[in-house]
Amino acid sequence: MNDMQENVERIMLTAEQIETRVKEVAAQLDKLYEGRRPVVVCILKGSVIFFADLIRSMKTPLELDFMAVSSYGTGTASSGALKVRKDLTTDIAGRDVLIVEDIIDSGNTLYNLKKLLNSRAPASVNIVTLLDKPERREVPMEPEYTCFVIEDEFVVGYGMDYSEDYRNLPYIGVLKRSVYEK
Ligand code: PRP
Repeated sequence: MNDMQENVERIMLTAEQIETRVKEVAAQLDKLYEGRRPVVVCILKGSVIFFADLIRSMKTPLELDFMAVSSYGTGTASSGALKVRKDLTTDIAGRDVLIVEDIIDSGNTLYNLKKLLNSRAPASVNIVTLLDKPERREVPMEPEYTCFVIEDEFVVGYGMDYSEDYRNLPYIGVLKRSVYEK
């Protein structure tokens, strides 16, 4: 067992479970975008693995783009406080946009990001998330597509990190409390 595995309390979703579900959702997205050519946006960094698997399961012709954002504060007062660290290079006016996220927690990031992208006059904006923790929501944010709804546990792997570690685990694991409570 390597160091990364030692710090995982339990495996929440195996690589096989993820693969099966990602393919199902990719098929739904193919139906949604039939006859169209969406701009599929990877929200760095956590989504990168999900994004790579999802787009390779999709048969729809598409374009890729990347954004890096962070969101400050919670809900009401400071909503809109989105820091864009890397913006799209594609002009999305009149385009169908699919945002690919790894996890929705408070909902602040996507709430603000959706508002920003909608201000650029796209034809449509949809969100697909690998994981959703609805218990943690602070603002109204319902993704159009969700692979897995999960409990409020600290998850790592398949792109997701703790202090930048664990992103390259092939499964989604629950981190041992001792790792982040020391
Ligand atoms: C995570 C995730 C979302 C956001 C969700 O990103 O990818 O963007 O947090 O949280 P929220 O719903 O409370 O806004 P993170 O800031 O950890 O960056 P990373 O993807 O680069 O790890």
